[in-house]
Amino acid sequence: MEIVFYHPSEPVEPWIAGMHKRLPGAHLRAWLPGDSLPADYALVWHPPVEMLAGRRGLKGLFALGAGVDALMQTLRLHPRMLAENVPLLRLEDTGMAEQMVEYVLAAVLRYYRRLDEYYLYQRQGSWRELALNDKRGFIIGVAGAGVLGQKVACTLAGRGFPVRCWSLSRKSIPQVASFAGDEQLPDFLSGLQVLVNLLPNTPRTEGILDGELFARLNRGAFVINVARGAHLVEADLLAALARGQIAAATLDVCREEPLPPGHPFWRTPRITLTPHIAAVTIPSLAMDSIAENIRRIEAGVPPLGLVDRAQGY
Ligand code: NAP
Ligand code: GLV
Repeated sequence: MEIVFYHPSEPVEPWIAGMHKRLPGAHLRAWLPGDSLPADYALVWHPPVEMLAGRRGLKGLFALGAGVDALMQTLRLHPRMLAENVPLLRLEDTGMAEQMVEYVLAAVLRYYRRLDEYYLYQRQGSWRELALNDKRGFIIGVAGAGVLGQKVACTLAGRGFPVRCWSLSRKSIPQVASFAGDEQLPDFLSGLQVLVNLLPNTPRTEGILDGELFARLNRGAFVINVARGAHLVEADLLAALARGQIAAATLDVCREEPLPPGHPFWRTPRITLTPHIAAVTIPSLAMDSIAENIRRIEAGVPPLGLVDRAQGY
């Protein structure tokens, strides 16, 4: 079995050994320009068009992450790059949900426990107590109730926060109020103190975090964007922060990554930036899941993590 691999920054060696260990008959090679030799499977992150264009005989294309927006965008530009019948698969959880839960919980608790205000008082040499926020009024909305969003929502609900989620289809999650579809978006947003974005980036969700949406949140709400930079209209966030409509934002993702030097986000004190690390791919767990999926495909069993190309996620 031939597996071809492309990742712009991950070293290939652990993948060669790791996939061989999990699938003894498998031979994995790094794709290099000009390589059009046959392959049964491709494992990719942000692959060049040339790697996939015209490739025949692929039995599965595995994205080495949860979000497939970059691949979908390339497919929209080059529709013939991948035959319709080749399954496109993504990583579901594989260690990312726990990381995402930790990241979002840390950001929520920081805002709920008013830690930024205490850090400021410390710098001012001021020993001063602030009122404890009322947890019952600290309503948290998780946009995107998929593999990651559901775990985040459940954890926050388990900590005693009132939690809502928003998705395309209605969910039944204990202690989490479910809102579905565009028509329920205003009700989902109304009264939120914290908005966590865990939507996939698709043509329907791009730019969803805009001024109109911010205006529907509580005045002084917090925004945590851990999905994609393309969801956010950056100028609208800066304006909402300046007006006090949004009190602070935690952004793990940006439209342009790395964030360019001189970008206003670098010097906006109420924006906290991290370099797209909220939930990273853990190679050993990703390989376990990919190997299991290859076994399924080889056995004629439907694979897990199949992307709906029409929906874009
Ligand atoms: P997922 O399982 O596909 O969940 C997506 C959720 O969004 C689903 O609940 C889906 O609704 C909902 N949704 C999609 N389009 C919608 C729309 N137009 N309106 C309302 N809801 C919509 O994805 P996931 O594995 O949880 O990952 C979510 C995203 O997190 C990824 O796409 C990726 O961009 C991002 N991510 C970021 C990091 C990081 O380090 N920052 C790491 C991993 C992933 P249904 O349930 O009804 O289908
Ligand atoms: C990371 O952002 C991913 O989509 O896995």
